[in-house]
Amino acid sequence: MHKTHTCGDLRAEHIGQTVTLSGWVDTRRDHGKLIFIDLRDRYGRTQVVADPADAVAAHAVAETARNEFVLQVTGVVRARPAGSENPKLATGAVEVEAHAIEVLGPSKVLPFQLDDENTDEQIRLKHRYLDLRRPRMQRNLILRHKVVKFMRDFMDARGFIEVETPILFKTTPEGARDYLVPSRVHPGSFYALPQSPQQLKQLLMVAGVDRYFQIARCFRDEDLRGDRQPEFTQLDLEMSFVHRDDVLTLVEELYTAMIPVVTPEKKLLDTPWRKIPYREALSRYGSDKPDLRFGLELYDLSTIMAGSGFKVFQLALGSGGVVKCIVVPGCAGYSRKEVDDLTTFAKEQGAKGLATLALTAEGVRGTAQKFITPGEVEAIQALTGAREGDLVLFVADSLTVANKTLGALRLLFRDRLKLADPSLMAFAWIVDFPMFAWNDEEKRWDAEHHPFTMPKAEHLELMESDPGAVLADAYDMVCNGYEMASGSIRIHRRDIQFKIFERLGLDPADIQAKFGHMLEAFEYGAPPHGGMAPGIDRLVMLLADEPNIREVIAFPKNQAALDVMADAPSPAQEKQLKELGIKVLAD
Ligand code: AMO
Ligand code: AMP
Repeated sequence: MHKTHTCGDLRAEHIGQTVTLSGWVDTRRDHGKLIFIDLRDRYGRTQVVADPADAVAAHAVAETARNEFVLQVTGVVRARPAGSENPKLATGAVEVEAHAIEVLGPSKVLPFQLDDENTDEQIRLKHRYLDLRRPRMQRNLILRHKVVKFMRDFMDARGFIEVETPILFKTTPEGARDYLVPSRVHPGSFYALPQSPQQLKQLLMVAGVDRYFQIARCFRDEDLRGDRQPEFTQLDLEMSFVHRDDVLTLVEELYTAMIPVVTPEKKLLDTPWRKIPYREALSRYGSDKPDLRFGLELYDLSTIMAGSGFKVFQLALGSGGVVKCIVVPGCAGYSRKEVDDLTTFAKEQGAKGLATLALTAEGVRGTAQKFITPGEVEAIQALTGAREGDLVLFVADSLTVANKTLGALRLLFRDRLKLADPSLMAFAWIVDFPMFAWNDEEKRWDAEHHPFTMPKAEHLELMESDPGAVLADAYDMVCNGYEMASGSIRIHRRDIQFKIFERLGLDPADIQAKFGHMLEAFEYGAPPHGGMAPGIDRLVMLLADEPNIREVIAFPKNQAALDVMADAPSPAQEKQLKELGIKVLAD
């Protein structure tokens, strides 16, 4: 080894020992005669002192060393002089008196300062190997490792076995575009990278694996956001002979056991976790991934406002819509400009406008004031608990638009008024999802989750007559406003699976070409099964208090799906394209 100890090891008990450390120059202070170097590695920092009186050659090397040089230092551990101990550093009681220093790897001046938190992300990503030297990033890598290790150990203890499934596979729809890989052996044919191992894990159930899991990489060509990457990792799992709650209980137990171990500073909102029906989540929080760390719920005022003289309310109610509101605490004093900005925000969400009622000490104010009777105000207050000092925000529109707009305003005020405790992990299950979602652009029904999801038995007969009313045995795990996992009980019968594909607009030839292998498998003794897939990147992001998942992925793509470090994707060589039988039409 190039070292006897790490840079985080040395304590008072080592005083007098000769040691060898290797690491990076974190800081270097040249006091003329004495040179102080803080040597850093993953484990900590240790102060090294080069004194020409101890070793002329070592001091000469220390003079040439600069930040981020990799050095090997051999010397004697000694107590720091009284008064110069550093209680903030684990090694702060001691220092190493350098007898020999060797430069193992010199360094150019870094393109950015490692301790500068404001460095542009593109520069950080371009030199990710430097960015990852920062304590914050090392902490994230270690946390991610702990999470995955805990998951593996837990699943193993519960009788699950980890099975690897292919990356070169066939299209598996999860609602995104596929990444295609051209085949050289079969020019003109393509593998698709799996959007998830969904089909394969179900086939493993047919194979009798019974309890499967995998730390699985998934690939989706979709528009990127802060919580989305083109490739990401799931704890993918599947179980045979289970009902919904068997799956939910297992995953809830995993998370409830894991979080106190990997992040003791985090608190869980409640145990057991709430189960909230999809429609209730939309209605109370305006979202199917509600942040439950705070209240500010949506209220339906349609009944109270049924006889309203306010034209915009009448119009919405008359056309089958709703009037809904949120009550923002303490914001009755908002200026005209502040209210206008909220209205602009509401319009960006799709609302036609935003009506306001401010409950001030001097009486009721706001754009809705003229149109709302004292009796209606009283009824609103009785329903919502709005008090003097509060600002009521109304949206009159279709239920979908009202929920979406007020749900977005709810999150805006969460951040503005700091309503959510950052140390809280508010896990919950969203259950009873609709099976189908109407795709207005393509004029067809899409699977709300994925096409392998089992409709609720009592809704099977509605598939033809009223697809929109069919609920599925599907569930999501949510936390703090993020969708953390999805899953479902699956179809294990050929006839039902075929019907679902048809309902989704696939013709029999298409069904056979894409999913013939699944349908055939279901004819050879398929057990009832179900499972789910929690996203690991999103979980680590929340546990690490990071604002986006790029911070918890060692080598992520940027917002434009580029790896700016390695410069990928990049053009292929003419020879490669020829072998693959591919012609590039445009660049
Ligand atoms: P779904 O598509 O809902 O379900 O994905 C499950 C979870 O994976 C995470 N996730 C992502 N994380 C980062 N970047 C992305 N682009 C991304 N897309 C999804 C989320 C999400 O909740 N096969 C099904 C699961 C099942 O039915 O068992 C599936 O993949 O945390
Ligand atoms: P108007 O009658 O269009 O001048 O609107 C009166 C007030 O109602 C304004 O403050 C609008 O922003 C608001 N408003 C308009 N349409 C809606 C709507 N659909 N829901 C809630 N408020 C609205």
